[in-house]
Amino acid sequence: MLNILRNRRSVRKFENRTIEPEKIELLTEALVRSPSSRSINPWEFIVVDEREVIRRLARCKAHGAGFLSGAPLAVVVLGDTSSSDTCIEDCTIAAITLQYAAESLELGSCWCQVRLRKSGDGKAAEENVRDLLKIPDHYLVECIIGLGYPGEGKKPHSRESLDWGKVYRNKYGN
Ligand SMILES: Cc1cc2nc3c(=O)[nH]c(=O)nc-3n(C[C@H](O)[C@H](O)[C@H](O)COP(=O)(O)O)c2cc1C
Repeated sequence: MLNILRNRRSVRKFENRTIEPEKIELLTEALVRSPSSRSINPWEFIVVDEREVIRRLARCKAHGAGFLSGAPLAVVVLGDTSSSDTCIEDCTIAAITLQYAAESLELGSCWCQVRLRKSGDGKAAEENVRDLLKIPDHYLVECIIGLGYPGEGKKPHSRESLDWGKVYRNKYGN
């Protein structure tokens, strides 16, 4: 696990290669194994492998979604706001669990934030995704995780570059 944490970087360029169905199955398992408050599991996921749909998702917001257009797989993370008051936290945990599982399977991934973001015309990115994928209104769209075989090599963050000084002992600032 620590090696996965050490090696993971956001990957935004992908090989033109589909992900094997067995790996997609394992990624799916990682998603539904995610913990959630009171085990309500307020998350739902749309696994998208249709290139044209992914290309449209890449246009859901003005900045930071373009990388999705080169990803062979995208997972849209939804939270059911009507069933839990912690669905943002639960969705976030599921999304990062997916990213770590991807790393363990030698896949690259990157988070595309959707909630609170806007497209160039001022429309909420969530609405763009909702319209495209026919998502009911009571779900929030937290993020889209783009996945694929890495098409770029990125060095792990060095130990020296980490924010060790943000961790305190026993009281703030210590
Ligand atoms: C909550 C969250 C939102 C993010 N949103 C985006 C995004 O919209 N587009 C993008 O390209 N990267 C996004 N990222 C990836 C970050 O830019 C990236 O994790 C950060 O620069 C650190 O780089 P690393 O993941 O390689 O360590 C997001 C990451 C997080 C955790």
